[in-house]
Amino acid sequence: MAAERDQPRGIFVTGTGTEVGKTVVAAAIARTLAGEGMRVAVFKPAVTGLDEGVETDYELLRRAAGSTQSDEEIAPYRYGPPASPHLAAALAGEEIDPERLRRAAGAAAASAEAVVCEGVGGLLVPLSPGYLLRDFAADLGYPLVVVAGPGLGTINHTLLTVEAARAAGLEVAAVVLNPWPQEPTEIERSNRETIAALADVPILTLPQLDLANPASWPPLRV
Ligand SMILES: Nc1ncnc2c1ncn2[C@@H]1O[C@H](COP(=O)(O)OP(=O)(O)OP(=O)(O)O)[C@@H](O)[C@H]1O
Ligand SMILES: [Mg+2]
Repeated sequence: MAAERDQPRGIFVTGTGTEVGKTVVAAAIARTLAGEGMRVAVFKPAVTGLDEGVETDYELLRRAAGSTQSDEEIAPYRYGPPASPHLAAALAGEEIDPERLRRAAGAAAASAEAVVCEGVGGLLVPLSPGYLLRDFAADLGYPLVVVAGPGLGTINHTLLTVEAARAAGLEVAAVVLNPWPQEPTEIERSNRETIAALADVPILTLPQLDLANPASWPPLRV
C-alpha cells in the first residue's frame, strides 16, 4: 500500500531574511492546497523567539493547513531566545542534529499528500555550526519559494538568494513579493519586472492578509 502512494508534493519556503513574510506565504500556500482538498502537513526545522509571546510560526502554519500535527511534529527544535538556531541551540546546551531533522521532515511528509516547509531566516543561516538551512533544503529536495519585500533593496537581496539557491543545485519555483500593496509604486512595479528578468523566475505577489481569517485569503498557487 505505502509503495503505491504518490510522493507528497513538497514546497520549501525561504526568504531574503527574517521577518519578510515566510510564515504568511507558507500559510497561504498551505491554505490553498488544503482548500483544494489535499491533506497538508507543515514543517519548520527550528523555531526561535518563543519568549516573545506572539502566535508562533507553527501555530499559524497548523491553523492555515488545517493540520492536526503536534508542535513537536511541525517544529522539532523550539527555543525561547530570538537568535539564530545554531546559537539558540547552543544556549540550551544542545546542537541541532541534521539526521533528526530529516527523519522528522520525512515523517511529516509521509503523513500527508502535500508538505509545506518554512525555513528559518535566510538560506545561509546555520542550523548547527556545520549545517546550513540551505543544506537542509537540499536534503529535502523540494522546489523553493523565495519570499522578498516589494520595495527598495529587494532586487539585490532577491538575486543573491536565488543565486545562492542555484549554486547548490536547488530549483527556485517562484519569488513571492510580500506584502504587495494595493497601489504599487513605480519602484515596486519596476522591482517586480527587474527581478523577473534578471532571475528568470516567475514572480507572484501576496497582498496584506487578515491573518485571523484564512477563509478570506486569496489562493496562492506555486
Ligand atoms: N501578507 C501579509 N499580511 C499580513 N501580515 C503580514 C503579511 N506578511 C507579513 N506579515 C506580518 O509581518 C510579520 C512578519 O511576517 P512573518 O512572520 O511571516 O515573517 P517570517 O519571514 O516568517 O519571519 P521569521 O524569520 O521570524 O520566521 C508578521 O507579524 C506577519 O504577521
Ligand atoms: Mg516565520
